Amino acid sequence: MVYILKSILEGEVQISGAKNAFFPAVGAGIALGAKKIVIRNVPKVRDIQVMLEIISKIGGEYSVRDDNEVSIYMEKITPERIDQETFSKIRGGVVIFGAVLSRIGRSYIPFPGGCKIGKRPIDQHIKAARELGFSVEESPEGVKAYGEIKNKKISFDIKTVTGTENAILMSLKSKNLIEIENHAKEPEVRELMKYLEKHGVRFLETEDKLFIDPRNVETPDEVEFELIPDRIEAGTFLIGTAATGGNTKIKNVNPEHLKIVIEKLQEAGARIKIGKDEIEIEGEKEYDPLYVIADSYPDFPTDLQPQLTVMLLKSKGKSVIEERVFPERTNHVYELRKMGADIEISGNKIIIYPSRLKGGTFVEAKDLRSTASLVIAGLIADGEPTLIKNFEIIERGYERFLEKIRKLGANIQRDSFFISQLTM
Ligand code: EPU
Repeated sequence: MVYILKSILEGEVQISGAKNAFFPAVGAGIALGAKKIVIRNVPKVRDIQVMLEIISKIGGEYSVRDDNEVSIYMEKITPERIDQETFSKIRGGVVIFGAVLSRIGRSYIPFPGGCKIGKRPIDQHIKAARELGFSVEESPEGVKAYGEIKNKKISFDIKTVTGTENAILMSLKSKNLIEIENHAKEPEVRELMKYLEKHGVRFLETEDKLFIDPRNVETPDEVEFELIPDRIEAGTFLIGTAATGGNTKIKNVNPEHLKIVIEKLQEAGARIKIGKDEIEIEGEKEYDPLYVIADSYPDFPTDLQPQLTVMLLKSKGKSVIEERVFPERTNHVYELRKMGADIEISGNKIIIYPSRLKGGTFVEAKDLRSTASLVIAGLIADGEPTLIKNFEIIERGYERFLEKIRKLGANIQRDSFFISQLTM
């Protein structure tokens, strides 16, 4: 639980490595057959800790250095030993499916979990394996795949990030060019391509197709990758600054990855200066209303939709966010209403009217990004402190969040400590 008082975000913040780039990096190392996988700029967050537990379940060992470098040692892999309980804590572990299939010719995963933000099936991951010609068996516990690649094409019905990562990973043993139709283009997917390019795999991308040529793939003993900056962490601080009318410099970020986010914030009226690897933002008291479509990259990221919902409460008129990735991603809306937010849900549209949030409200965090949005809500709420139950969820994906946001001036405290401060 935390207590938050109205505050303005000001100062500088360093962005950590991208949590969601870690999973495909591990997948690349496993699929390439490496005995040692070194990954730098790894954020110390809970979802990655869980991934490392999964690695050890399948026979790997790991060490984590203070400077955010993680080394994974993989010799013999036994995917059958992954247990449902650990696996269902996260979503990213699903890349084990394609990676292990490539490495040892057979694979098994229980059904994955992750944030409760709507239905999250893995039918497209399974379809990819089947279309390549692998035998796939589904049971109530999980999915097993084995055999060899017989075909050359995967066609996705929808764009899926980890599905595309899995499709790439499971294609690596092909003796032919593989075509993936309707692939996802998120920076984390493109990074996976870059990791593999370093080891002989070639890619050709068109608007709706990705061709993979793995015929010259190397099998290095050791691989080294560096994670890209976390665009969602950066976006959270940008939107948080805008919402509080603050002024911050977001450092160690790739502005290219946040193009649409920057454009939308500018359209609303925030002033933004873009550097090579930093973004400076100056917020306003209120904003022009926006119409935003949250969809696959390069569209606005669904992982920033809850945070933007809060900021748009400070618009001069009605704003709309159309959520096309997870149409049921509305956990935050119900909590924001408790704070006085005037927000309607109509199908996959979130309709946001100008509202003043009132403090002294007890809200409950239910998933990672809605937790971040509730923190921003607490920062703009008037009066008494806002209380967020289950705030700990933030640790799944934001490294040292409390420390970073406090350094920017947020008046946020855990549990009873804050009460004693208030009474001083
Ligand atoms: N979908 C299916 N079948 C599938 C796969 C996906 O119907 O087999 C649907 C999903 O239900 C969803 C849509 O397709 O409606 C897109 O899902 P996608 O597969 O792209 O999501 P993901 O790979 O499970 C990753 C991130 C999420 C992020 C989404 C969308 C990781 C580990 N997770 O999930 O990150 O929201 O892409 O960009 O990379 C987060 O970090 O908080 C987070 C939830």
